[in-house]
Amino acid sequence: MSTGKQAVHEIARLYRDHVNPDLARVIRITGLGTLEDQAEGVRVWDHEGVEYLDMAGGYGMFSLGHRHPEVVQAVADQLHRMPMSAKVFLSPVMARLAAALAEIAPGDLQYAFFCNSGTEAVEGALKLARLATGRTNFVAAHGAFHGKSTGGLAVSGRPGYREPFQPLMPGVEHVPFGDLEALEQVVGPETAGVILEPIQGEGGIHLAPDGYLQGVREICTRKGALMVADEVQTGLGRTGRMFAVQHWEVEPDLLVLAKALGGGVMPIGAILGTPEVWKAFRGRPLIHTSTFGGSPLACAAGLATLQVLSRDRLPERAAAEGAWFLGRLREVVARNPDICAEARGLGLMLGLELTEERFGGSIISEMAHRRVIAVYTLNQPRVIRFEPPLTVSRQDLELALEALEASILRTREVFSLSTISPQEA
Ligand SMILES: Cc1ncc(COP(=O)(O)O)c(C=O)c1O
Repeated sequence: MSTGKQAVHEIARLYRDHVNPDLARVIRITGLGTLEDQAEGVRVWDHEGVEYLDMAGGYGMFSLGHRHPEVVQAVADQLHRMPMSAKVFLSPVMARLAAALAEIAPGDLQYAFFCNSGTEAVEGALKLARLATGRTNFVAAHGAFHGKSTGGLAVSGRPGYREPFQPLMPGVEHVPFGDLEALEQVVGPETAGVILEPIQGEGGIHLAPDGYLQGVREICTRKGALMVADEVQTGLGRTGRMFAVQHWEVEPDLLVLAKALGGGVMPIGAILGTPEVWKAFRGRPLIHTSTFGGSPLACAAGLATLQVLSRDRLPERAAAEGAWFLGRLREVVARNPDICAEARGLGLMLGLELTEERFGGSIISEMAHRRVIAVYTLNQPRVIRFEPPLTVSRQDLELALEALEASILRTREVFSLSTISPQEA
């Protein structure tokens, strides 16, 4: 056995005996049963030096690409000064990040609480919504994904992840995403908040229909419930605007962020809220806390990330490159109607819906063989998503399209489907 193969074998054994045997199996089936070793920009190298183009972008985490030099430098500087907070002084780097977020956030989302992940941010936002309104219940959407903690799962919409853990947090109703009438019916005097992703990510890249988020805002305001925007995946430029709610000019009461905020270098989550919501902390400043949350290291990464995003106009870049890529994806759909149903999305948060679920795994593993990383959405395996770094070049997008089309062709062969003639397409 080659030393490369031996190394894979050894790590697969460690997964089997000490991590999660089925997870290792799933990773191998997707064609990426190799060892990640190094990464830079839009590329990842395995332990044998094989180079991959990253079109999944860590599910939205690598908006600046891997190891962005300015974020790495900011974190390295902070590492040698003070990585973790003593938690008993004022933290300058945390305060500056909160102010920088307030400057770019929609409406008067003036305050920030920092934690370590998207799930934690959702969990904290649910608590704050309850505190601020004195109400207990929530409304969320079918197909939603808000994390896998018990609160996050309670508002998430995939039965398979929820059922083994029932009873979850009570008082949650799910309605179809995009249906204002259904929402109107369930938001009542006990509703603390309505939590939604402006574009459902794990649910299969579904955009809020025009007028929907404005309608949600109106219903929430009229009924005294808070509007909570989960921008963990859509936030910070991914969809072509700094925040996805800005496409519809909506100002939520609470907005949660994570993934891209750490610049792909540090874990960090944030809850942004209005002064009205933040009254919940009055007289009880320690009602919601986190030991690691808001660490100087993570906040230094966040500050550098915001600077790069704005200076390099990455939201605008995402809008332009995303529109181009979506146009090309639609051509792929038109040429392959037996396998591809639809391409959709905004900016560089794009999804390719397939006609059948079984094609997803095949296309993804074929793309991996062609050294392109792609993934499907967690709640909807029929949708392959593309969320590359916002810095991705046109040339790399072209490479990804070539790999995609070749993978579709191969999938057609594997499933013994007849070849589509240009006339049929
Ligand atoms: C919209 C949304 N909310 C919350 C989460 C959970 O974030 P994390 O995995 O950082 O806990 C995710 C993760 O994919 C997400 O997409």
